[in-house]
Amino acid sequence: MAKPISIEVWNPSGKYRVISTKPMPGTRWIKLLTDQDCRVEICTEKKTILSVEDILALIGTKCDGVIGQLTEDWGEVLFSALKNAGGTTFSNMAVGYNNVDVDAATKYGIAVGNTPGVLTETTAELAASLSLSAARRIVEADQFMRAGLYDGWLPNLFVGNLLKGQTVGVIGAGRIGSAYARMMVEGFKMNLIYYDLYQSTRLEKFVTAYGQFLKANGEQPVAWKRAATMEDVLREADVISLHPILDKTTYHLINKESLAIMKKEAVLVNCSRGPVINEVDLVEHLRVNPMFRVGLDVFEDEPYMKPGLAEMKNAVVVPHIASASKWTREGMATLAALNVLGKIKGYPVWANPNQVEPFLDENSVPPPASPSIVNAKKLGLPTSKL
Ligand code: GLV
Repeated sequence: MAKPISIEVWNPSGKYRVISTKPMPGTRWIKLLTDQDCRVEICTEKKTILSVEDILALIGTKCDGVIGQLTEDWGEVLFSALKNAGGTTFSNMAVGYNNVDVDAATKYGIAVGNTPGVLTETTAELAASLSLSAARRIVEADQFMRAGLYDGWLPNLFVGNLLKGQTVGVIGAGRIGSAYARMMVEGFKMNLIYYDLYQSTRLEKFVTAYGQFLKANGEQPVAWKRAATMEDVLREADVISLHPILDKTTYHLINKESLAIMKKEAVLVNCSRGPVINEVDLVEHLRVNPMFRVGLDVFEDEPYMKPGLAEMKNAVVVPHIASASKWTREGMATLAALNVLGKIKGYPVWANPNQVEPFLDENSVPPPASPSIVNAKKLGLPTSKL
């Protein structure tokens, strides 16, 4: 860091120094911290991705806790600096934390927070939006209109895929994958095939009951199937959405070979993490299969796209905005702040990190607990009895 980093300070005389590496939506998170004797410093540097050196400069020699972002590399260097500055807590403002070396944090006794439970529906809605946009070629058609190319209705103009009665495939039927599956089944009456190591009984029950409801109303029922392998989903589904976590088992899960077994007119959606797809293979697949379409929220080398992707008309691309609804982003900021505050104040950890409504009610004081600490067990942190 050549020059000092710019910051905005709230409650300068606060006892605990808490840093947020970015301005975050809403102001409730700031108030929750300042009300509890925290001095809040928000980095306002006009630079999208802060380097490790930038963050070291922010941490300085006294820092109790940091709220960081998924674009930052939280590993050995930053956690040892935080520990040396007297810090005990860090929270990602994200549900995913593949940017965080949790073992390094644990080694330095630093609690690592994340923000599940508040972005399930918002993320699933974006996956559904990308599914529709890709299937019905919305972006291509929009660009065509704006370019002044529309000179009259034509039978073959932007013909896409009907979803009703087709099969939606979900890889990873956790919270977000299941919410997406329900939207597609309920909204578009698609059949479901899913692959997950764990059985999603609630999802299966929902589809069964909805199928019975449709039948009772004289409509074609929907059905579900739990696939034995991911390949079964790729082979059978017309729209496939990826919802695994990123680790070494899911890196390049979608590659040349897996793309080859998908239907030629399938739609593939990714709102998980970019490296789950081999993007070079995907660009080539899109090039030779013009009827195959993708909707991507995440990219292998974010913020960049692999060469050729931007030119593909059969790709809908958006800049990692799956959790970007006002309610969710304000909620994420609140949960991240409360994760940090909870550790500073010595509060226990909330028992169910997916049930966080009590923390989000603007009209009441949040429970005295950290909503979600991923290394709580390893650090031996107590669980809230509330
Ligand atoms: C966003 O990608 C998140 O993990 O919250």
